[in-house]
Amino acid sequence: MPDRIAIDGPAASGKSTVARMVAARLGGFFVSTGDLYRAVSRAVLDRGVDPRREAERVADLLPDIDLGYRRGSGSVLDLFLDGRPVSSEALRGPEVSEVVSFVAAIPAVREWLRDRQRACCRFGTIVMEGRDIGTVILPDATHKFYLTASPEERARRRLAQGGETAPGTSLAEVAARIAERDRIDSSRAVAPLRPAPDAVIIDTDGVPAPEVAERIVRRVQEGQGAA
Ligand code: CDP
Repeated sequence: MPDRIAIDGPAASGKSTVARMVAARLGGFFVSTGDLYRAVSRAVLDRGVDPRREAERVADLLPDIDLGYRRGSGSVLDLFLDGRPVSSEALRGPEVSEVVSFVAAIPAVREWLRDRQRACCRFGTIVMEGRDIGTVILPDATHKFYLTASPEERARRRLAQGGETAPGTSLAEVAARIAERDRIDSSRAVAPLRPAPDAVIIDTDGVPAPEVAERIVRRVQEGQGAA
């Protein structure tokens, strides 16, 4: 049975960067589940619905949305939305980032995405990152990790990354937006952000991503961090 590695944590805790490195080291597939919530947000906005004001209309739109992964070249999974490939970068603009936590708090959306996430395991070894992978999506993951970092460090990382933040945005504004997303993600009724009881918690403050990835790979290879 191939390894299923769950990496959870709050916004800008470095999950994507680290998960991508771990997948490359282990020869597995990397799945950023935030992309799925972002893709649903994109699809909903494209259909003229504002999820902040019309949450109830979002569930009605789901049957019309065509979303899923296909195997690309090598160990890459390509996300397709409404028949077209959609990149992670294209989903990281401010418009989607502002509504994604509202979309992710809608129970029908989480249920609709649950099987799409689990289906990724059919491809082989999976390194899946998100908010509820160890708790809800893959409770039987072979290894679970939860990355943390201080709000200041996360704001610095997000600002350095660009993309999601409009040019000229201050560190304080980025920190406030991350804090707001954390608040919504941690307090929602369904699948709130929290470590699985059996997750290995890694504080990444001041630890470069390659080193965090190395710690995870070592634990996986030694058979530690297992559920
Ligand atoms: O990259 P960043 O940590 O900023 O966010 P992301 O992983 O792209 O996720 C964007 C949003 O999707 C999060 O703030 C959550 O509201 C939601 N999300 C979720 O609820 N559950 C997941 N497994 C992944 C993302």
